[in-house]
Amino acid sequence: MTQDLSPSDRAKYACARRAADFVENGMKVGLGTGSTAAFLVKCLGEMVRDEGLDIQAVPTSSRTAELARAEGITVKTLDEVGLLDLTIDGADEFDAELTLIKGGGAAHLQEKIVATASKRMIVIADASKDVAVLGKFPLPVEVIPFGLEASRALIHDVLSALGYAKTEVTMRMAGDVPLVSDEGNHILDLHLGQITDATQLSAALNQIPGVVENGLFINIASAVVIGHADGTAVTRDLLLGTETSVNVFEADNLFSDIGDDA
Ligand code: 5RP
Repeated sequence: MTQDLSPSDRAKYACARRAADFVENGMKVGLGTGSTAAFLVKCLGEMVRDEGLDIQAVPTSSRTAELARAEGITVKTLDEVGLLDLTIDGADEFDAELTLIKGGGAAHLQEKIVATASKRMIVIADASKDVAVLGKFPLPVEVIPFGLEASRALIHDVLSALGYAKTEVTMRMAGDVPLVSDEGNHILDLHLGQITDATQLSAALNQIPGVVENGLFINIASAVVIGHADGTAVTRDLLLGTETSVNVFEADNLFSDIGDDA
């Protein structure tokens, strides 16, 4: 049961459980990637099995697709369903404007495509992801394998020109070899410390030919559900200008096998 989860997982579960309430019958839903999104997929799976929730889901990674299918959720490709009603996804960092850093799970390319094909994106995150200034979490940049070192050099040039001096750019590894994304690319992580102008940085990075996409999500998410270990889930909606709080454990009738990562 949820009391067996670590405090961190309880917080992830809380925001995921609350966000699942925004999913309605008949919706086309984008499913994010990562450990928080995995809780969401499990919550939705339970709703499909126990309450007959009828949705079409578009996963943002092979991992999420596998989990969603195992949960009994109907999985479609983005091209099969077209515009989505809602995408719910995790984040590595978010600020007051809901600008995000994503890609800690190397899935930000598909995540950004799916989120921008959605009428609405809701972020689910524990309170540790809420930051005043983005950039402590390294910014993921997906690059094609061809000309990788040339792309890395151009990234350094862009960063220097924008005033990010001595920035470390590291190759994301999977053990001893460079990680390969679902799209067959590699991920460079930019250790920026802080990001002063996300719009400028995102535009400059994406102009480099070998860069496929960076992990900054700007003006994409409109709400965040922030989870806390005590079960509190705070929903901050930028469009409505509201902040509401519920405790998901107070009405908890939930499954016992939750807790494994996607
Ligand atoms: C994957 C992502 C994830 O949403 C992000 O890394 C957060 O993951 P977690 O919920 O495991 O902390 O962007 O590419």
